[in-house]
Amino acid sequence: MPRSLSGTDRVIHQFDNVLRTLVPGAASASRPSPATDAVVDGEMSLDERHHAAGLMRINHTGEVCAQALYQGQGLTAKLPDVRGQMEEAAQEEIDHLAWCEDRLTELKAHPSRLNPVFFAASFGMGALAGAVGDRVSLGFVAATEEQVGKHLDEHIETLPGGDRRSRAVLRQMAIDEAHHAQQALEAGGARFPAPLKAGMTLMSRVMTKTVYRW
Ligand SMILES: [Fe+2]
Ligand SMILES: [Fe+2]
Repeated sequence: MPRSLSGTDRVIHQFDNVLRTLVPGAASASRPSPATDAVVDGEMSLDERHHAAGLMRINHTGEVCAQALYQGQGLTAKLPDVRGQMEEAAQEEIDHLAWCEDRLTELKAHPSRLNPVFFAASFGMGALAGAVGDRVSLGFVAATEEQVGKHLDEHIETLPGGDRRSRAVLRQMAIDEAHHAQQALEAGGARFPAPLKAGMTLMSRVMTKTVYRW
């Protein structure tokens, strides 16, 4: 019979998750990257490579935030029926994190140095939403996934034409995120009112503007 985790076990498990998310190379994907050997980039200028790196850094930080959100939620939410589903979604976010990190390495770029700050903020918000109630916390997941989906669509459009490998990664991520949003709503997530969504858009703008460079 599985024994229940003690308080100390929980802290260690949580710390392990934090390290896996924030330490480069520590996240390992359960699915192979969609940027397979068969996907070959076209010509890209130096400026185009910089732009692609900036966009992929944003997507990488988005995945750090997603990890933090699911971990924060996992800590406080009850989720009696859908905990397994949420854990599965969190595992897919680890795939995304690892794929984005690999692509940043290929582009000779680094993840954002601000990741610990965004991790802490998202973890706090996830835990807070989870403490308020499952409907709110699932609604928060859905609204966040929708927001991420919008970024992905925009980035798929604005990546340099030659950057086929980043595009392959983002396309699969967009499919997964739409599924996560759908699942969270079907599990009973509240639809967030427009002003709350506008606040989230504002925050995501702060993130994208800073992380593109740093
Ligand atoms: Fe993701
Ligand atoms: Fe997601």
